[in-house]
Amino acid sequence: MLVGIVLAAGLGKRMNSKRHKVVHEVCGKPMIEHIVDEMLAVGFDRLFVVVGKLEEQVRAVLGDRVEYIRQTEQLGTGHAVMTAAPYLPEQGTVVVLYGDCPLVRREEIARLLEAVKDDAGTAVQTAVVDNPYAYGRILRDARGDVSRIVEEKDASSEQRQIHEVNSGIYAFSIPSLRASLEKLSRDNAQGEYLLTDCIEHIRRTGERIFPVVVADPDDIANVNDRIQLSYVEEKLRKRILLRHMQNGVTILDPAATYIQADVVIGRDTVLMPGSFLEGNTILGEDCVIGPNTRIKDAVIGDGVTIESSVILTSSIADRAAIGPFAYVRPGSVIGSNTKIGDFVEIKNAVIGEGTKVSHLAYVGDSDVGKGVNMGCGVVTVNYDGFRKHRTIIGDNSFVGSNVNLIAPVTVGAGGYIATGSTITDDVPEQAFAIARERQTTKPDYANHLRLRLKNLHESSTGRSSGKE
Ligand code: UD1
Ligand code: CA
Repeated sequence: MLVGIVLAAGLGKRMNSKRHKVVHEVCGKPMIEHIVDEMLAVGFDRLFVVVGKLEEQVRAVLGDRVEYIRQTEQLGTGHAVMTAAPYLPEQGTVVVLYGDCPLVRREEIARLLEAVKDDAGTAVQTAVVDNPYAYGRILRDARGDVSRIVEEKDASSEQRQIHEVNSGIYAFSIPSLRASLEKLSRDNAQGEYLLTDCIEHIRRTGERIFPVVVADPDDIANVNDRIQLSYVEEKLRKRILLRHMQNGVTILDPAATYIQADVVIGRDTVLMPGSFLEGNTILGEDCVIGPNTRIKDAVIGDGVTIESSVILTSSIADRAAIGPFAYVRPGSVIGSNTKIGDFVEIKNAVIGEGTKVSHLAYVGDSDVGKGVNMGCGVVTVNYDGFRKHRTIIGDNSFVGSNVNLIAPVTVGAGGYIATGSTITDDVPEQAFAIARERQTTKPDYANHLRLRLKNLHESSTGRSSGKE
């Protein structure tokens, strides 16, 4: 039986935040979710999270993917594990780690487990770092095993010179962890029950403690304050960029490209500077994104171009051309081979295959068919001050420039709406609708008008200057 325990009961005071430390995002994803995702990928039979104050914030992120244990008083990392001990099975292996180390990797957890297989003993993940400050230091014996972990505050000046530190990830056999927890005391500089002291107690029973040194020391970075938060953000951001480039995505300027943790991108897609890809966005192959484009929670097909635009919670099918300066708001479904041009806003609307909304338009709460031409300045008037209404436009219709469609209204397939019309009534299939004043033209009237306006102007300025 393989069990995991993530400690997340401490608030993280040094974050100086109203939010629990572990729900702060790294590359758009809560820290604790990074950790839980990695652990679940390794495959735990049961996964516990120890929570304390603000536990509702942790639950809101993790839901029922894990089991929760409450530590009502935060008396140290050892105490947090004591709180969890009654929930552990009699036998098996338990991996313990902390909720503030978002760069942990599944491969490294697997490596730790490899070290303790067949009940070989206990394993501690360690790292050799340039600046060991604040980490527990690893003391080794002649054989190379870990003999003790000494916390910064308890370390002698000699021990503080040690650069091998405790990552805070351990694999224990459950019976020996249980026995060692009973021996913990608060007799240390912090006055807490320290999980790190279990190592020494286990060791005293004759069990071996294996150090497993991580390949990349950045993996163990923990977040205690916002400076460390920005550090892990930068590290993870670079890792994500690297992964996409290795997978065949061209990124012109990685320093100016932001891709959140769970974004998926197809091969031969090109990201121009100022691309922000967020949330659960999925991008197809051969797209060109940016410059200066934000895409959040959207599904984008193949061969799509999106320039200087914002796309939120929508889908865009193959070979659509979006922007520059388009705003696609949540709930939009944009078909293949469409064009959504400059200064166009689409909201909660379906845009059929091959339809063009090329410039300066607002299409909201609408179902627009295939092959439609929406002219410059078309507005779907969806809101009467109380409720939103839908506009329906059939396939292959033509909506002239500057048309207002007062919803609810339907234009049948193949309809033709004259420029400048304000459409209040449904237009049947194949019908032509015009709804505007007829033009009046007066021959030779222009100069006469100018004269009249001039006189009007002079008489009014004469009066106001009081020269009469
Ligand atoms: C801890 C380790 C240190 C290691 C470092 C790695 C101990 C005593 N020290 O130090 O050796 O190098 O992590 O990052 O373990 N927590 C609880 N309940 C408590 C106290 C803490 O759940 O009563 C949780 C916190 O929410 C946090 C985690 O345990 O997620 C670690 O606590 P923290 O205070 O950050 O430990 P460090 O000082 O970083
Ligand atoms: Ca910490």
